[in-house]
This record gives sequence, structure tokens and C-alpha cells, in this order.
Amino acid sequence: MSATGKITDKIIATTPAHKAAIETLLAQGFGPGRHARTAERLREQSTAYTDLSYVLSDDTAEGTQILASISYSPIRVGGDAGLLLGPLIVSPILQNRGIGVELMTYSLAFADKLTQFQFVLLVGDLPYYQRVGFGSTSSAVIMPGPVDAARLLVRGKTDIAGKVCGAPDLA
Ligand SMILES: CC(C)(COP(=O)(O)OP(=O)(O)OC[C@H]1O[C@@H](n2cnc3c(N)ncnc32)[C@H](O)[C@@H]1OP(=O)(O)O)[C@@H](O)C(=O)NCCC(=O)NCCS
Repeated sequence: MSATGKITDKIIATTPAHKAAIETLLAQGFGPGRHARTAERLREQSTAYTDLSYVLSDDTAEGTQILASISYSPIRVGGDAGLLLGPLIVSPILQNRGIGVELMTYSLAFADKLTQFQFVLLVGDLPYYQRVGFGSTSSAVIMPGPVDAARLLVRGKTDIAGKVCGAPDLA
């Protein structure tokens, strides 16, 4: 990434033209097993909420590079509507520079304004995601596949309960 400029100045809305670059980042970061993950099953049942997909785009002498990406998919848990965060991916050469937290902070500020969604759910490590307000869920949140309960995290309305399913009608 170029040495100048703030991270937020390089965050732009995702477009279809970014798809191939995002797929390359995801393959690098998660490997071939990523489609078998339980969170992926939910994404297959839904579709990304278009206005909440962002990439980190950097213009260099070699051209424009896509260096990180975040998206969210609408879901329901019991009677409550929310968003599933992910995938979040940062290029391996740029990790630990604050990009992941910045992308989440930026996009969650917009998600918070979408009053149709009461919570954001994700599968990830609490020590990382608690930096942006995520905490543990109760055992009453049931994912459509195996998940380490300690890694199922929520932000916003925390007393959600029931089966988690995709909600493409809310995308
Ligand atoms: C996880 C990921 C998105 C983090 O992005 P990043 O831009 O490197 O993270 P940031 O720079 O915002 O934060 C770095 C800090 O978080 C910590 N951190 C990163 N991943 C962590 C984890 N899984 N658990 C605990 N802490 C973590 C780092 O040690 C660092 O700590 P420090 O600030 O005290 O030095 C990135 O490593 C990545 O794309 N990994 C591969 C894909 C992945 O695992 N995605 C998330 C799946 S839900």
C-alpha cells in the first residue's frame, strides 16, 4: 500500500469488477476448505447486503490493487433480523496494520443506521472482535452446522435465540 493517506480514504464500495480480486484474497486467506465452513452455508442461503460491501483499494504504479474486503449477509435468528459479518479478509502482506479493525469500524457505522437489523453475528475469535464491540452469544443461537460456541459472537441485540437462517428477502 502506498505510504501516504489514511486507511479510510482507500475504502470504497465493492462493485462487480472487484469480484475476481476478492476471490483471490479469500483463496489465499482461507484456503480451499472455506466453502465447507458453517458461515458459508448461511451466505449460500442469503446474498450480500449490497450497500455494506467494501474493499480497500490502492492505486500504485502497477495499477489498482484490492487489498482487503468485507461484506455482510442478512440473516434471521428466531424472530429477529440481523446481519452475518463476513467474509473479512486482509491481504497477508498488510496484516497487523489496523486495516481489519478499520474496515469493520467503517462498515459497522453504516450497519448501525439500518434499523431493520437488530444485531450483527459472526464466527471468529473474541479477543479480536471485541475490539469493535462483539461479545459472546447464548447457547440458544443455533447455527446450521458445527461451530465452536465460544467463537459465535454478537454485537447489538444480544438476547437473540433460535435457529440462524439466511434472509435473502432483506438483502
Ligand atoms: C483476521 C484478519 C482479518 C485481521 O486483519 P488485520 O488487518 O491483520 O487486523 P488488524 O490490523 O485490524 O488488527 C491486528 C491486531 O489484532 C490481533 N489479531 C489479529 N487476528 C486475531 C485473532 N484471530 N485473535 C486475536 N487477535 C487477533 C493482532 O495480533 C493485532 O494485535 P495488536 O493490535 O495488539 O498488535 C486478517 O488477519 C485476515 O484476513 N486473516 C485471514 C482471514 C480471516 O481469518 N478472516 C477472519 C475470519 S472470521
